[in-house]
Amino acid sequence: MAKCVGRELVEARGMDVDSLINVLVERALAEMGNYYYFTLLRIHLLGVDGEALRRIIEQVREQDRHHFELLVPRIYELGGRLPETAEQESGTLGALRVLPVEADVPKILPILLQAAEASVKAYTNLCAMTIGKDNHTYNLALAIRQDEIQHQVRFLEMLGRGAAEPRLQTSAEILLSVAQLGAPPAVVRVGAGA
Ligand SMILES: [Fe+2]
Repeated sequence: MAKCVGRELVEARGMDVDSLINVLVERALAEMGNYYYFTLLRIHLLGVDGEALRRIIEQVREQDRHHFELLVPRIYELGGRLPETAEQESGTLGALRVLPVEADVPKILPILLQAAEASVKAYTNLCAMTIGKDNHTYNLALAIRQDEIQHQVRFLEMLGRGAAEPRLQTSAEILLSVAQLGAPPAVVRVGAGA
């Protein structure tokens, strides 16, 4: 096996890199799976009462694709790889497969909220797994987690709960600020579903 400097650096700080790669691959596939279902949902909501939700879905869908693209390079830097084929359904939006012909926003929203909560929890766990051991992955997970909290807040707003939440930074803004500071933020904001 070729020497992998990225892996050695993280291993030297006590990280179980194989476990970390497994989690990162699982996350990357989940992001891609959600992107796929958001694409279906976006089309499903065209021309019906779900226009407001469709606009949110459009943004969340793009962010999940961006998350996939953020995670993949890190997997390979650590010496891992994506599976050649995805054998199992990934992501947390499989329930959207059985949508009624007519878009039913009150029925769809809880599925989306549940998926966002699961994502926040997964990235919270990834932050806990990497803090102090792998700053690069930690910063990545923290930034994505912030986006997932934002998704959760937007779905909650549509459900009429928690509308008073302030605007949160996007992952791109967090990664930029981390790069400028040269260190991970000291405080991890814990969201409602974490
Ligand atoms: Fe995501």
